[in-house]
This record gives sequence, structure tokens and C-alpha cells, in this order.
Amino acid sequence: MTKLVPNLTAHWDETDSYTIAGYQRHGGYSAVKKSFELGPDAVIAEVKESGLRGRGGAGFPTGMKWGFVPQGDGKPHYLVVNADESEPGACKDIPLMMANPHSLVEGVIIAAYAIRANQAFIYIRGETPHPIRRVRQAVADAYAAKLLGKNILGSGFDLEVVVHSGAGAYICGEETALLDSLEGRRGQPRLKPPFPAVAGLYASPTVVNNVETIASVPAVINNGAAWYKSFGTEKSPGIKLFAVSGDVKRPGIFEAPLGITMRELIDYAGGMVSERPVKFFVPGGSSVPLLTPEHLDVPLTYEDMAAHGTMLGTGTPMVFDTSRSVTQAVVRWIEFYKHESCGKCTPCREGTYFMVDILKRLEKGKGQISDLDLLVDISAQISGRSFCALGDAAATPVPAALKYFREEFETKLVGVK
Ligand SMILES: Cc1cc2nc3c(=O)[nH]c(=O)nc-3n(C[C@H](O)[C@H](O)[C@H](O)COP(=O)(O)O)c2cc1C
Ligand code: SF4
Repeated sequence: MTKLVPNLTAHWDETDSYTIAGYQRHGGYSAVKKSFELGPDAVIAEVKESGLRGRGGAGFPTGMKWGFVPQGDGKPHYLVVNADESEPGACKDIPLMMANPHSLVEGVIIAAYAIRANQAFIYIRGETPHPIRRVRQAVADAYAAKLLGKNILGSGFDLEVVVHSGAGAYICGEETALLDSLEGRRGQPRLKPPFPAVAGLYASPTVVNNVETIASVPAVINNGAAWYKSFGTEKSPGIKLFAVSGDVKRPGIFEAPLGITMRELIDYAGGMVSERPVKFFVPGGSSVPLLTPEHLDVPLTYEDMAAHGTMLGTGTPMVFDTSRSVTQAVVRWIEFYKHESCGKCTPCREGTYFMVDILKRLEKGKGQISDLDLLVDISAQISGRSFCALGDAAATPVPAALKYFREEFETKLVGVK
């Protein structure tokens, strides 16, 4: 059984885990001092060496992203933390900000120092007032402790941090839409390239990173890249928050090395809620193709998930037992994407609309056999042809569901009981 490795979650059961005193009692903010001693380039090198990959879904190597920011360009640099967590099934960043907001603030100081940014923004999902309040308080406490502001700890490094509340759109989690939203415009994705590292916020070099990614940085600096790499696999090093939800007895967050399996996570979550077996699961939020019981022992790594036709995504598995309808789950997911489609490009805007229409027809038992092919065809028209990854995400549920559960879809056809 893979052992859990509580790092970000180590002190969540302490009543003051979210306070600066609680954080500092366990060595909090010592990584800031260490980073100032190392210098910005050595910090980037250490994060690169650790192999830490972005926890926002795409798994891009964090140190490499920081290394793309041009140096000596005379422009202001920005760090933006993506705390928009809105993906169905994803629930790790919000609990992290509630229980341990100072790991995020400390990570922000280190990351901003490394990329030579004097201004950082934490963009938090607007519908979640609690983490907004909590992170605002953590930032205020860090200012009071002279860990933010001018000449932090006498290092000569200045950093201002703004906690920004989003306005409630899933698309604002897409990094370029987030930047447009932060600039006061309607949140819609930008054409890439240029990538944010070159021309991001206010057309200046910007690093956008997920909450968990940034909060993982202090431990990497304090314990070293070799420690971090001692967990996980060569291509998926380190530890991660796995937020397990669905038909398990104790849904929750389990911090474990990458490579833990779904079977082990279900065990940690107390097993299946009604002792009914697993029918299907999605390993990383609704944006990744579903898997079936035969995949319960596949290591949850970026490479193993790709080898099985899916993705690790946000590492927030949803588990469904045999009482669940796969067609119903697919309808709900596609309805979500239809609702959240920003409308900028045709394949996603129209495709999600048509898919919902067809799926609803199937749900009522009024589908035709040709509808199944049509669903596959529409998914293929969206995938790879949309302006941003929301379209690709909307195109994923149907092909995977049909691959494993075509018979269930066929029971929804007209004239079939
Ligand atoms: C529709 C959509 C929504 C997204 N939502 C989030 C989000 O809520 N949080 C997040 O960190 N990344 C989200 N992403 C991914 C970001 O675009 C980006 O890859 C990520 O913030 C980069 O951080 P990382 O390198 O630390 O993973 C989303 C992407 C898409 C296409
Ligand atoms: S894929 Fe969807 S969300 Fe992305 S730009 Fe196109 S319409 Fe907007």
C-alpha cells in the first residue's frame, strides 16, 4: 500500500493551521529566507531539478515555465496565482487555501522573487467568499510581519500582493481568459503565442501557476529537489493532493506520491459507500476521459494516464458505483460545458449545444442509432478545432463513455426498453 505523505496537509487538524502563528510554529516562512540566500536563478534551478509539474491540469514543468520569463528586459514582471478552481470534481485548491493559506503566500513570495516580479495577483473564484476572506487575512498578516511590502526581511526585494475575486465563470480559469478578466475585460481566451511568459498581464512577462503548484514550492526549497524527487516516478516526481469524491465512504483529500493507484485511494477513502463495486471513474475532474474497474491498479501518473487514453488532470478523481448511469453523468458534464462555453469559437459554442440536445433526446429514450455516431462526429469536430482547451474538455466524455458503455447508450434508443 502506497503511504500517504502529508506535507501541505500535515497540520490541517490543528485548530490554528490557517494562522501565521500556526504556520510559523512548523517552520513556515523559513523557505523565504533560504531563497534569498540562494538567489533567484538558483531558486529556479532547484524547482527545475525537483521536476515539480503544474497542478492546474496540464502538468507543465514549473521550473521550465519560470525559466521562460525574459530577464533584463526592463519590463515589469507579474506572478498570477490561478485559484479559480471550478472544474466539476476538482476540490483541492479551495480546501488548501482554507486550511493552509500561508503555504500559498510563502510560495508566492519565492516564485515572485525567482521570476523578478514585484507584483503578484491571487485570482480566486468569486463564488467562494470563504477562501477569499481567508487568503486576504493571510496576506494582511504577511504584510504585518514584513514578509510582504518593501525590502522583505532586509533582502532589498519588494513585493505587493493583490487578492482578486473572480466574477464566476469557469473559462476564467483558462490562464489567458483569467488575464483578460484581471485586466477588467470579459474573460475570453487569447490567441497563443505569444504565451503569458512573454506577453501576459498588461502585455508584460507573466507566470500563471495553480495554487497547489505554488504552495508546493516552499517544501521543495526547504527540503531540496532530491527529497521531492524521491517520491513518485521519473516523469511524475513528487507528491500531490488527490481529492476523492463520489461513491466512497469518506470523500476527502489524500496527499500521496504520484503513482498511487485508484484502488489505494478508494481504500484510504474508506471503500465504496454501499459496498457496490466501481462502475467507472474519472481520474482528474470532468475534463478527462473516464476509466473503468480494469484501470483501478494503474498508477496515477501523467505518463500512465496518457498511456491509458486519459489524463491525470487536476488529480481529483470522481468515483461512480454500479447504481450510476453513465449516460446521465455524461449529460451533466456536457451541460456544464455548454453553459460555460464562452462563445468565442464555433465548434465549442455550437457543438456543446448540439451534444446536449442529442443526449437529452437519448435520456428520454427517444434516440436513434445514428445519434450515437453523430455524438462521436460532433466530439471529433470540437476536439483540436476549438480555440481553447475547454472545447477539448467538452469533447472528451462522449468517446470514452461510448468506448466502454456503448450498450448502455443503446438502451436509450427509441423502441428499446
Ligand atoms: C476552461 C479551463 C479552466 C481552467 N481552470 C483552471 C483553474 O481553475 N485552476 C488552474 O490552476 N488551472 C486551470 N486551468 C489551466 C490553466 O489554463 C493553466 O494551465 C494553469 O493555471 C497553469 O498552472 P500550472 O502550470 O501551475 O498548472 C484551466 C484551463 C481551462 C482550459
Ligand atoms: S473553446 Fe469554448 S470556451 Fe474556449 S474559446 Fe472556444 S467557445 Fe470559448
